Amino acid sequence: MVALEDPKPYGAMVGERLGLKQGCRICEAGGGYGSLMKGLLGKYSATVGHAYMIDLSWSLLKRQREALKKRSPFITFINGDIMELLPALSGIDFLIVNEVIGDLDTVKDVDYDDLPAEASELIKKYNLEIPSEGRFNFNVGAILLVEEICRRGIPAFVAEHSSDPVIPEDMDFLERGIVG
Ligand SMILES: C[S@@+](CC[C@H](N)C(=O)[O-])C[C@H]1O[C@@H](n2cnc3c(N)ncnc32)[C@H](O)[C@@H]1O
Repeated sequence: MVALEDPKPYGAMVGERLGLKQGCRICEAGGGYGSLMKGLLGKYSATVGHAYMIDLSWSLLKRQREALKKRSPFITFINGDIMELLPALSGIDFLIVNEVIGDLDTVKDVDYDDLPAEASELIKKYNLEIPSEGRFNFNVGAILLVEEICRRGIPAFVAEHSSDPVIPEDMDFLERGIVG
């Protein structure tokens, strides 16, 4: 934020991009510590009619509840998997999925000459560029989520900067605290 000409929280910037309308209903999947929604509601609490926070993790949902306690009458917290809940979502004006798609189901160590059926279908369907030699990881979940968002016609903000489904050998401290 310090480096920005017009410093503001990331969530406020996302809200600005969405062009929120009065009374709109927004849903964030995978809210982590709740910082994005806190920033967004910090600027747009008078505009947003209701917010829904869906997260797979109970403990992160608790963190979100804590971070957003000032705004809690306008927020519903839901413990669940966005991949399962998305087909049932209705009446949502915007869906926010920030830094979550890298966590979705990924087929690891895929061999170009022996592609699993699901990966092969998606690669053909979208004419995806894949490495022609060696093995690679293929995030099936990310594609299926975006497909479902488009099928349902839900306006969405989806962002991911990078992801690595394999924890590097010398960084096993990253596994600490990961449950099931
Ligand atoms: C890397 S954090 C991103 C947090 C936050 N959106 C941000 O940008 O700081 C990923 C979040 O997505 C949640 N998550 C991962 N897979 C999910 C799924 N299938 N359904 C719902 N939430 C999921 C995690 O529990 C976590 O809260």
